[in-house]
Amino acid sequence: MSIDIVEEIKSLKKQKNVLLLAHNYQDPSVQQLADFTGNSLELSQKTSNVDCDIIVFAGAEFMAETAVILNPDKTVLIPSSAVKCPMAYMLSPEKMNIYKKRYPNASVAVYVNTTSETKSMADVCITSSNATRIISQLENDQILVGPDRNLAWYIQQKTPDKEIIPFPDVGHCYVHRKFTSSDIERQKLKHPEAEILVHPEADPSVQKLADKVCSTSGMIEEARSSKADEFIIATEIGLIDRLRIEFPSKTFLPARQDAICIQQKKITIYNLYLSLLKDQFKIQVPSNIAKRARLAIERMIELSS
Ligand code: 13P
Ligand code: SF4
Repeated sequence: MSIDIVEEIKSLKKQKNVLLLAHNYQDPSVQQLADFTGNSLELSQKTSNVDCDIIVFAGAEFMAETAVILNPDKTVLIPSSAVKCPMAYMLSPEKMNIYKKRYPNASVAVYVNTTSETKSMADVCITSSNATRIISQLENDQILVGPDRNLAWYIQQKTPDKEIIPFPDVGHCYVHRKFTSSDIERQKLKHPEAEILVHPEADPSVQKLADKVCSTSGMIEEARSSKADEFIIATEIGLIDRLRIEFPSKTFLPARQDAICIQQKKITIYNLYLSLLKDQFKIQVPSNIAKRARLAIERMIELSS
């Protein structure tokens, strides 16, 4: 007997009082079942004060860990145990220690794309959508920022009064690193009227060609409010699916077809179904680390509003 997997997922969600959250890069088949889809900041905000028994997180593991840290008494599940963003492991606690000692007067701001242990050693977390707002509110003039060097470059452009010190040797997203200025120029030649939207994880040479550098949800907002009909999009291609569904009368052109986050694409409706059925895979964060990481995440949420 075959089962209707979509109906099964809907019914398990109801039966188990589940909140299903999905990142903007998830496949549309997963996004359409989610209670909320958003960027990494919006997803963290959604997980503070939630009324449900189980949170199922369709996104990267670092995002699900944030949900655990903010909801220590709730069960947080991720449908695949392999959604580990490589960037999140590029800033180790050992490197944090070395550079915190080298720059004793600097505040430490870490991207949410980090492990819980790294977050527990930071003063504040940042995402691509709130980074400049948060950094400009910090008291210290020197700010250590990592792991993503391109995001650090972007923040420096937007906050010239601060000295942004990227953690040396570390930090990039292999998906966003694929974009080159020729990718953008090629598309622009074919579509001269198109507005260029670039994620701050892309190389500075690509950011410099953008009409707007913004987070994934920033791109959705720009597509909604802009008068342009065509957009060249330099971020993971999953966002383009969402843009095409939400704005069917507008045209979205990927800067590259191969900008695919293979980790985030490991989540499917099949493992989502199994996750709901078998309560797998449970995300856990040791309580001593969670307690300290929570301070950096809560400070981020407070400074974002
Ligand atoms: P956003 O915060 O823009 O959703 O980005 C998260 C991410 O992992 C980008 O690669
Ligand atoms: Fe990590 Fe890049 Fe995937 Fe985002 S797109 S989750 S930064 S690997």
